[in-house]
Amino acid sequence: MKKIKSIEDYHKEYKKSIEQPETFWSEIAENFIWKKKWDSVLKWDFNNYNVNWFLNGKLNITENCLDRHLSSKGNQPAIIWEPNDPKEKALTLTYKELHEKVCSFANVLKNNGCKKGDRICIYMPMVPELAIAVLACARIGAIHSVVFGGFSFNSLADRIHDADCNLVITSDGAYRGAKDIPLKSVVDEALKTCPTVKKVIVLRRTNSKVEMQNGRDVWWNDEIKKVNADCPAETMDAEDMLFILYTSGSTGKPKGVVHTCGGYMVYTGYTFKNVFQYNDGEIYWCTADVGWITGHSYLVYGPLLNGATTLMFEGIPTWPDAGRFWEVIDKHKVNIFYTAPTAIRSLEAMGLDFVKPHKLNSLRVLGTVGEPINAEAWNWYNENIGKNNCPIVDTWWQTETGGIMISPIAGITKTKPGFATLPLPGVQPVLLDESGKELQGNNVDGRLCMKFPWPGIIRTTYKNHERCKEVYFSTFKGYYFTGDGCRRDEDGYYRITGRVDDVIKVSGHLLGTAEIENAINEHADIVESAVVGFPHDIKGWGIYAYVICDRKRDDVEELKKEIIGTVNKFMGPIAKPDKIQIVTGLPKTRSGKIMRRILRKVAEGDVNNLGDTSTLLDPAVVEEIVKGAVK
Ligand code: WT7
Repeated sequence: MKKIKSIEDYHKEYKKSIEQPETFWSEIAENFIWKKKWDSVLKWDFNNYNVNWFLNGKLNITENCLDRHLSSKGNQPAIIWEPNDPKEKALTLTYKELHEKVCSFANVLKNNGCKKGDRICIYMPMVPELAIAVLACARIGAIHSVVFGGFSFNSLADRIHDADCNLVITSDGAYRGAKDIPLKSVVDEALKTCPTVKKVIVLRRTNSKVEMQNGRDVWWNDEIKKVNADCPAETMDAEDMLFILYTSGSTGKPKGVVHTCGGYMVYTGYTFKNVFQYNDGEIYWCTADVGWITGHSYLVYGPLLNGATTLMFEGIPTWPDAGRFWEVIDKHKVNIFYTAPTAIRSLEAMGLDFVKPHKLNSLRVLGTVGEPINAEAWNWYNENIGKNNCPIVDTWWQTETGGIMISPIAGITKTKPGFATLPLPGVQPVLLDESGKELQGNNVDGRLCMKFPWPGIIRTTYKNHERCKEVYFSTFKGYYFTGDGCRRDEDGYYRITGRVDDVIKVSGHLLGTAEIENAINEHADIVESAVVGFPHDIKGWGIYAYVICDRKRDDVEELKKEIIGTVNKFMGPIAKPDKIQIVTGLPKTRSGKIMRRILRKVAEGDVNNLGDTSTLLDPAVVEEIVKGAVK
């Protein structure tokens, strides 16, 4: 695949992608292996949402990720795995070895009754078998639904349920820093309410004791001995589902974002190569968990489609100490490093003593993703990690977009701290005002929308196409609405300012306030709660919960601890409230809607300008809330 070589080249490609999108994308798609070529490139309708790319094309994405590299790169590392414990040995899988393992495990799936179209839930630690499991599903045409290991049994059960999964792949436990997290017992708890699941494949990782249910649970290590490594790739239509990935929305129920085989492959392959300007032989490290879209697109699929070497890290940035990322970069001579602003801010806060012992001279490109990066963190990253010598790509995109949408091209686009800069070829962003009018020219602020499809766009929300239409295509007729606010500055550069809906980005994780409220309300003494975000130095946004308790509890601190415990148990530690305020009422309109605007202001500490409260049912609660605000 050819790479963008200069800023002139970028402008030329961009122009072509807008004027002749079908020619543009078909030329890129030609770089992949298709079992049968497509009949037409694109069919689309944003009003009654429906998008198809590469119609009637047939392929298997794993042939493009693995088989095609065997002759030229069979002995090159595909995955380098760095374990949680620095004393444990790192592991390298060449393309040949990875191919063999994926085919073998695909045969294990078949032996356990899986076939094309089945949904398989993957709930695993960051070990090579996670990538192997994902690719094995794709090999046989089963649809993977990876659930992040930080979610707890309730969230896991919801996701298994919604996708009607018939098989779960997990491990006994997971190492995360000094902790040993019991994954299998979470699965056991979740499966009490998921009768569709007939089989559980369990990988041994921590050797912790687990209960195996007879007839349902089997060990990965036993099953793999029963198979050979010969597994032809299933023929998939370009628009067959590749995977479902759940993401939080404004309601309590997460949405199953669906991506399909052809468009997702072309889009992630193209954007990986161009944004990072990947050169053959380079070591690339994306620190995201495979449980998120970044891990799907830029740890597994994007790099492997390009025959790259992708590093997978099991641990956390602060264990055994806050120098771990930098140590791993030196140890494996990482050239491209892609992480989240939250990680950068938390490591910045630990001080330079953790950075100084490390050379970091293998680095060529740095990237960030998942939330806005403030200029201070950007500059710290640039000076101390990149040594003012590595371009930073601030990549804006979403679970729903499949791949990067607005981003510098490494070393080619002039960067500006805090700006995702320019749209990639094929991406047509517009800013709309509240009435849905397109804002023309520069120096404007509005809601970020897309007016033309790209190959990686969400196809549907699983089993609920109406919801997909409603959430993304109804706010502004004829446009895909991102849910983000955005500024286009005097240079035409884009700067994402944050969410404009009821979801919050906490440490880069998208969490629905309603979902957190549901978890809090599981506490026996809590009758109602309202969750909002507040600006947080490290996490970007923190979680502020207002709760109504129906029993007189004098042990407020104990109650708060219990609430945190409840959220941990039902939703997972990522949704743990930072601040909890016990209130006797919530500010509601006469129609019963909670006025979150007021709650947000109080949480931010901005209580002098609460705006109009006259439409409230009981304006007195506002006074109580202001008085009791948690600093
Ligand atoms: C939301 C999507 C992107 C994959 C991982 C997150 C925010 C993402 C940036 C960025 C500012 C960003 C947006 C977006 N976001 N990247 N570079 N600058 N904000 O995927 O969990 O679906 O979240 O993350 O608010 O809508 P996600």
